[in-house]
Amino acid sequence: MTDARQGLTGLLDTEAIRKDFPILDRTVHDGKKIVYLDSAATSQKPRQVLDALNEYYERHNANVHRGVYTIAEEATALYEGARDKVAAFINAPSRDEVIFTKNASESLNLVANMLGWADEPYRVDRETEIVTTEMEHHSNIVPWQLLSQRTGAKLKWFGITDDGRLDLSNIDEIITEKTKIVSFTLVSNILGTVNPVEQIIRRAQQVGALVCIDASQAAPHMVLDVQALQADFVAFTGHKMVGPTGIGVLWGRQELLEDLPPFLGGGEMIETVSMHSSTYAPAPHKFEAGTPPIAQAVGLGAAVDYLSAIGMEKIHQHEKAITEYAVKRLLEVPDLRIIGPATAEDRGATISFTLGDIHPHDVGQVLDEMGIAVRVGHHCARPVCLRYGIPATTRASFYLYSTPAEVDALVDGLEHVRNFFG
Ligand code: ALA
Repeated sequence: MTDARQGLTGLLDTEAIRKDFPILDRTVHDGKKIVYLDSAATSQKPRQVLDALNEYYERHNANVHRGVYTIAEEATALYEGARDKVAAFINAPSRDEVIFTKNASESLNLVANMLGWADEPYRVDRETEIVTTEMEHHSNIVPWQLLSQRTGAKLKWFGITDDGRLDLSNIDEIITEKTKIVSFTLVSNILGTVNPVEQIIRRAQQVGALVCIDASQAAPHMVLDVQALQADFVAFTGHKMVGPTGIGVLWGRQELLEDLPPFLGGGEMIETVSMHSSTYAPAPHKFEAGTPPIAQAVGLGAAVDYLSAIGMEKIHQHEKAITEYAVKRLLEVPDLRIIGPATAEDRGATISFTLGDIHPHDVGQVLDEMGIAVRVGHHCARPVCLRYGIPATTRASFYLYSTPAEVDALVDGLEHVRNFFG
């Protein structure tokens, strides 16, 4: 056992944690125990979350904010209780700043559409500019392209350096007096880079631009404090943080949520409706049209409880140690090139790489035969692959249940892939 492996044992009791995740006991391909290294795509779910979902449906299922009968009131209390839990988890000043959506993509689309329909001073039009980065998931590019096409606003972006960092050398030319919104990821889903939030926010504030942060790859892995971040909007998703699919979050500053118009119309988001016009409920309900993802919110509440009981700082330290170990071990594999920062500094627990000229899909398939689950492809961040002139990468990503033994299994698997392809 290496030093890194010994060091890890004191950080989290992964053995006990793994017992909470039934799927980690699964075998595939004739009894091969699954080595799950795709938590950046979606995390596995602990029994505590599965039980909360089951209990909700078995005992409390009803629509929220409508019924006067007992289980309807219980369902409403559980749904709104989940909002309280999420607000506390991200240190939101008010629970009313937490909007439930179906995923982070919907959260980001919601921000783009709020601004697209807004009046001054938020209005986005052909005189204004939108800023994003080349490092984004498609969900933080396409909504801004749509907004740009609809309004005529100019779309600008920060490029990426050779070593996988944001190129901020021209920050004053990219973010200007014309910039209305700067939207960027806190942690890249493909490169693993942790971005310098403060520097970008400082410049955005100088010119009076709003800031939206995609925290999908951050919220599951580190303490996320929206007050400390000082952004205007923060988006993330439940399924990457041991919660169920179908639930996302948009946090927004209260005064903005009061001023900005809704995107989706329907039940629950209104105050009054006549055939001529409607008035809207206060935030967050103004942005939650229709029956919301009730069970999924309850599941997210259980996920937040689960992560909080372990401690986000401990989870973060565990992942840092395992990432450091993984970077070191992967760099020992001949012909392996890390795409992104080849260090453990300022990076999350996601490592993309190429292996000589073996296509990542072949790498993924041979690893799968050994029970090792990694993601291959462009990871919904195709501009990053274009930037590096590669069609795809293999990506390994870690979480609180990941172990050094799984890193070793990956490295052994990659040796096997190399032998297989000669
Ligand atoms: N956003 C997810 C990923 O990066 C799906 O894999």
